[in-house]
Amino acid sequence: MSQTPPPQILDGKGLSERIKDEIASEVTEWTGQGHRAPHLAAVLVGEDGASKTYVDHKVRSCERVGFKSTMVLRPADISQRELLDIVHGLNEDPNIDGFIVQLPLPNHIDAQAITEAIDPTKDVDGFHPVNIGNLALGLPGFVPATPAGIITLLERFEVPTEGRHAVVIGRSSIVGTPMSLLLSRSGQPGNCTVTLCHSRTQDLQEHCLQADILIAAVGRPEMIKADMVKEGAVVVDVGITRVKDVTAKRGYRLRGDVAYDEVAPKCSWITPVPGGVGPMTIVSLLRNTLLAAKAKAEA
Ligand code: GUN
Repeated sequence: MSQTPPPQILDGKGLSERIKDEIASEVTEWTGQGHRAPHLAAVLVGEDGASKTYVDHKVRSCERVGFKSTMVLRPADISQRELLDIVHGLNEDPNIDGFIVQLPLPNHIDAQAITEAIDPTKDVDGFHPVNIGNLALGLPGFVPATPAGIITLLERFEVPTEGRHAVVIGRSSIVGTPMSLLLSRSGQPGNCTVTLCHSRTQDLQEHCLQADILIAAVGRPEMIKADMVKEGAVVVDVGITRVKDVTAKRGYRLRGDVAYDEVAPKCSWITPVPGGVGPMTIVSLLRNTLLAAKAKAEA
């Protein structure tokens, strides 16, 4: 009787460390040529624990690769005007190569207006309409960090994508929509046939079962069960939700969108949570910041 081989782990944590080493070498070479170190700023509004952790990781990663970083912390009751002023200040600051405004923002802030106020040449999150438009057209620009990180993960682990059917669940402008563009575009990795599923999709299970590559980016813990996954599929879990657990040290556990224990035995490749997509998002942000610094110096 033939047995399914054990799944191979798309180890984003290990890979991200290797890529950070590569970026650190590039920074050393760059500064050795007389340039100043790349400089990323991160704006964090409010006290959301998960957002604070993400931004802390981003800032710490900057130090690790030899970037300069600046954290701009503001209370949740900041006005739209004040936040716009911060964005304009960072746009104008010649010492800042790129910056991000961590999402989500409080409800009284128009997040789209804030995103559109960011200078596209400093938009290292790749969320500005100019960068999303460039991505859609296959033109150079900043690619959103999470889908870019997933592409790097597939590339470095040599997961074949050409001609495969990729099913992306979730149509957010941060992950699902750019992910579908990247997987379908001409290139390696790429050249997939892509289905984009969302909250109005009928019979999600049927679509998921067609997937050679399944990307789950919904934010609903463990919604992808074993009976939704084809034998031998590649499964990428973008979800990372804090689920209350009084037995855990911090009072919560991190859960992905995929019920890992039951799904993993069916997969050829799978990302763990944590340690899969999350660390890759950060290296993509670092890479975008290095690109921004170089483009600025060469402009
Ligand atoms: N919130 C969740 N992911 C992201 C991200 O990649 N960038 C920003 N700015 N906010 C986020």
